[in-house]
Amino acid sequence: MKLTSIAPCRLPGNLPGLLALLTLPAMMLHAQTDPGPRPGPPLSGQPIRGLSPAELQMFAQGRATFTEVDNVVDGLGPRFNLDSCAGCHAAPQAGGSSAAFNPEPAVALKNGASNKIPPFIQPNGPTLAVRFKQAPNGTPDGGVHNLWVISGRSDAPAGCQIAQPDFSNLANLSFRIPTPTFGLGLIEAIPDAVLRANLAANASQKNSLGIQGSFNTSANDGTIARFGWKAQNKSLLMFAGEAYNVEIGVTNELFPNERDDTPSCQTGTEPEDVAAPGTPADIEAFAAFMRFLAPPQPAPPNPTVAAGQSLFISTGCALCHTPTLQTGDALSPALRNQTAALYSDLAIHHMGQALNDGITQGQAVGDEFRTAPLWGLGDRIFLLHDGRTTNLVQAIQFHDSPGSEAHQVVGNYQNLTAAQKQELIQFLRSL
Ligand code: HEC
Ligand code: HEC
Repeated sequence: MKLTSIAPCRLPGNLPGLLALLTLPAMMLHAQTDPGPRPGPPLSGQPIRGLSPAELQMFAQGRATFTEVDNVVDGLGPRFNLDSCAGCHAAPQAGGSSAAFNPEPAVALKNGASNKIPPFIQPNGPTLAVRFKQAPNGTPDGGVHNLWVISGRSDAPAGCQIAQPDFSNLANLSFRIPTPTFGLGLIEAIPDAVLRANLAANASQKNSLGIQGSFNTSANDGTIARFGWKAQNKSLLMFAGEAYNVEIGVTNELFPNERDDTPSCQTGTEPEDVAAPGTPADIEAFAAFMRFLAPPQPAPPNPTVAAGQSLFISTGCALCHTPTLQTGDALSPALRNQTAALYSDLAIHHMGQALNDGITQGQAVGDEFRTAPLWGLGDRIFLLHDGRTTNLVQAIQFHDSPGSEAHQVVGNYQNLTAAQKQELIQFLRSL
């Protein structure tokens, strides 16, 4: 076709069509856009339906403890990342994930402290916990290294003079954002047998797409650990006890020793958090709050979302992100024999070199992560284990790098039309 021959007569009448034609290649590449978090009130943060009055009271008490801000007198430090659970588990409600505004820079300077804020901690970036891949002598580390010290705070012992870790070797650091805790009582109540049967299901389809998966099992009792980005932790109480000491520096009956025992920085007796007659320990209160938090409420269905849901299944996303699993014989009727729409198999999968964080936890090596539960995605801001993106399209693309079990599924996604990809994104934001 010679443009010159048609231009004089056709161009004016066809101008809108021609403009559309010119912009088509750009549309084909970028047509699917992530609309971002859903507008309207958050659909999580409530207690799960069906709790008894006593359980509702445990939930309320747990919520108050989860949102409480700790000072040194309450056991904060000597090293810590933040002074409350809810500061990190903030969005869209207490219990959730990283908020849009990071509270870490402010706590670094609180009460007269003069912590140096490392460049990767940004007020508008994700709320982070930092792990070191290796110790200075080159042996594997993998542990959380706290951002801040209490030294210099007006409420700290005057003689407490300890230094922050050296965060200058960026290549040795790996970052994690908070996982949301909505619906975790249901996740805790899924029997191992249900998880094992689900991972074994659809074997030929999984095989043909290169999907395997395994469980991160507890070292001594062999049951399936299921909490944390690498499914490294067994129970809510265990996670609460560990987080209280690791993130806030409060010793407790599960983690009774300070992580830094410099004598000049100690206050009171260990452990700092204990149960008293008639009063649960804080770690029990945290666990009860998270156990009784309702799962996020999805948006009402519509034709676009329904179409996106079919594509989520037909492309193979659902082979890892299992839409629903049944809970078992939980103590609370509200958690017993329920359908949990978590969109995860709670198994760990090799996710390729782009997501490899160089950290081994239990049986999960550097590039292995727990299939992230997708419920609540409608309200999520930062995505993937290190919060590297806020964009669902990019989160999907990061699934595909050499060594990833999701390679062929992402290929199926890439072969969708622009309109179909958009339907899939709309479905994800409806969760
Ligand atoms: C400095 C920020 C920060 C604070 C404070 C914090 N957390 Fe977390 N939390 C995280 C991060 C990061 C993860 C992901 C951990 C991982 O997998 O390495 C997490 C994960 C969790 C999980 C796992 C949820 C799941 O399904 O994977 C639980 C439970 C939890 N935190 C409870 C608590 C409790 C209880 C407190 C208060 C005692 C607390 N956290 C305080 C950052 C924080
Ligand atoms: C092989 C298993 C597997 C397949 C297939 C898979 N995912 Fe994932 N997905 C994961 C794992 C594991 C993570 C966590 C990765 C990380 O954080 O580094 C994840 C994370 C995500 C996240 C980010 C969630 C969060 O909490 O930040 C989204 C969104 C997502 N997947 C959507 C999809 C979609 C859409 C598809 C299909 C196109 C898909 N996934 C296919 C295993 C899988």
